[in-house]
Amino acid sequence: MGDIFRIMGGARLSGRAVIPAAKNAVLPIMAAAVMTGDCVTLHGCPALDDVGNMAKILEELGCETRAAAGRLTIDGKNARRHEMPDLLSKRLRSSIFMMGPLITRFGRATVTYPGGCEIGLRPIDLHLKGLRRLGVDIREEHGRIYCDGRHRHAGDVLLDFPSVGATENLMMAAVLTKGETIIRNAAREPEIVDLQGFINAMGGRVSGAGSSIVRIRGVDSLHGAAYPPIADRITAGTLLTAAAMTGGEIALDGFSGDSMDAVLAKLREAGCLIDERGDGLTLSAPGRLRAVDVFTQPYPGFPTDMQAQMMALCCVAEGTSIIVENVFESRFSHAAQLVRMGADITVHHRTAVVRGGRLTGARVTARDLRAGAALVLAALAADGMTEVENISLIDRGYERLEETLTALGARIRRV
Ligand code: UD1
Repeated sequence: MGDIFRIMGGARLSGRAVIPAAKNAVLPIMAAAVMTGDCVTLHGCPALDDVGNMAKILEELGCETRAAAGRLTIDGKNARRHEMPDLLSKRLRSSIFMMGPLITRFGRATVTYPGGCEIGLRPIDLHLKGLRRLGVDIREEHGRIYCDGRHRHAGDVLLDFPSVGATENLMMAAVLTKGETIIRNAAREPEIVDLQGFINAMGGRVSGAGSSIVRIRGVDSLHGAAYPPIADRITAGTLLTAAAMTGGEIALDGFSGDSMDAVLAKLREAGCLIDERGDGLTLSAPGRLRAVDVFTQPYPGFPTDMQAQMMALCCVAEGTSIIVENVFESRFSHAAQLVRMGADITVHHRTAVVRGGRLTGARVTARDLRAGAALVLAALAADGMTEVENISLIDRGYERLEETLTALGARIRRV
């Protein structure tokens, strides 16, 4: 597959789309599947690079996986290994979620420091500190982390920051631990509620996800389950923003906007009309978008994963926007690329000031997944042709984005 999107700007997006299951729900759920020796089936799974890499990791551990028509089956009967494969782990930050499930299944886990998008330091100190609180013995040597959880116990963990990954890892590490484990200052993202749903579908006893206190009561064993992970609120937000920026109109069939109040509020502030019906959500763009200020925060605040796309929107809005990235310390790689397209952006530490105007086509490079999505949106709204390089990063989180956008009337090709 080519690694460039060639996009001719100016086409108004209009039509309907169906949102696939969320990458950030599917990945931890796939990791959780290793906790049972029975078969797990996930419905509506997107064919994303990150999902493929996670499946390869599970296979290296001895699981059998099968993907067909959006159905992913994971059979952990023959899983034997508790050591994560180095190379694959470096490709995928979510490989870090395997610590909790491997400790639950085998009592031990050996993992390498994870890879993933370059959007800041992304340390894992909160994961390790939490696991230590649960009695897991951890040694860090030569870039590897050796976890011995054979003497683990229930405990009360207060996270210094509501980290999504740490909350999920600790939930999974505690599933088979006798007694009640409590995670305080837990992250409240909808994907964590979904992970709770999946663990409980396997026979676990987790409650409180979605609030800042999650309780995990240890059970003796888990069994297989069939589960449909939730729809991707970031893909939904990206498509809504694309329609907004091209003066378009879009309907997301069967999608509920409940999990994205903060994004919908900003799109409304920018002048979009949004209708949340029982069976979906529609957006119609105004003649001219208005500038909005954005402050990213843990859920239910504005998601950092929509910050880049919203910056692209601000570039074509009327007025000046202030964007503050509070979650990751360096997540403005798209700003310099947007400037190549004629945007007026000043960045100072975690704050960007965007003076709205027009964008023109240019050759730009995706430096991370959402930055790449933002460049595609900017290209759709720009005058002339844009080439976005390095789109394999976009493929990590959007399934054949060019096909979805073409169906909505965009002029985009993979070359
Ligand atoms: C998850 C999402 C990612 C999203 C992010 C924040 C998945 C697969 N990925 O990533 O798309 O952008 O949530 O909503 O679900 N931190 C520490 N120490 C730690 C852990 C995190 O300092 O041990 C810091 C990170 O560097 C970052 C912040 O906490 O600055 C948030 O990270 P976290 O919530 O853990 O994000 P991820 O789980 O990596």
